[in-house]
Amino acid sequence: MTGAVALAPAAIRGSTQILGVIGDPIAHSASPAMHNAALAHLGLDYVYVPYHVKPAGVSSLGPAIRSLGIRGLNVTVPHKIGVMAIVDDLSEAARQIGAVNTIIHQDGHLTGDNTDAYGIAASLREDGGLSHLPSHVVLLGAGGAARAVLHAVLQDEGVEHVTVQNRTMDRATALAQELGQGRATACALGDTTSIEQAGLLINCSSVGLAPEVDVSPVGDGAGLHQDMVVVDIVYKPLRTRLLQQAEAVGARTVDGLGMLVHQAARAFELWTGQRAPVDIMRQALLASVY
Ligand code: ATR
Repeated sequence: MTGAVALAPAAIRGSTQILGVIGDPIAHSASPAMHNAALAHLGLDYVYVPYHVKPAGVSSLGPAIRSLGIRGLNVTVPHKIGVMAIVDDLSEAARQIGAVNTIIHQDGHLTGDNTDAYGIAASLREDGGLSHLPSHVVLLGAGGAARAVLHAVLQDEGVEHVTVQNRTMDRATALAQELGQGRATACALGDTTSIEQAGLLINCSSVGLAPEVDVSPVGDGAGLHQDMVVVDIVYKPLRTRLLQQAEAVGARTVDGLGMLVHQAARAFELWTGQRAPVDIMRQALLASVY
């Protein structure tokens, strides 16, 4: 814990507005630490709380949010698709990605948004120093996280081709076809030719996540080279096996903290209208997770 970051709001009053996160499980979530630190830092009259919501509870969330006047919610595993049915409208990003990670409540109207794509784009720019993305990109994984990352990467018109690598080829093929805008193809996990040609590789699979810290989604690292940026959205551990392999060949590396912080910062801004104190949120995340 760092002493510099307040992890709880200063006071809860009659006027305090509620924000929160729903998931199943939820106790491990770092979002309350990040958001409460940001709210305390700016002196805003909100509190951010975790809600353990089981899948059977999702269908009744809409009336609950409205009647309790909850101002906004983050949505995490396994509800990102289920909540699409309970909101009144979807942002363009949420619609295209096919998942919601943020609900904004305004006067009874619920909007479902997705800030994960914003989060990876901001991290690539600010943590990876990539104001423009390279023309060839490799994504590892084809699950929910990969959908948001593919959507984000393809917003950059300089990206000519994305190779989606996944253990289960059918999922990679389906993702490339559905969201690829004609600029994505699928291939097997670990294909070295596409890695050799890539200027950017992003791991969106869960390979390397604690406790399986000794494995890498690219096996022994064949194909990694010094002229690429390697991003791992796994943030526990921070220095994954993949990032160690990338460092060993002289590639620039970006860990998963940035995406997590920036997706939270964007949600914070959507709810409060205030610029998020990103560094405070990052410190709170570090203090709560490691
Ligand atoms: P998320 O929503 O976090 O992306 P997910 O939808 O369960 O989670 O996706 C997890 C991703 O990690 C998938 O691409 C999965 O590959 P499959 O589609 O083949 O299941 C990948 N993954 C998980 N464990 C893996 C392993 N041991 N080896 C290779 N890929 C793995």
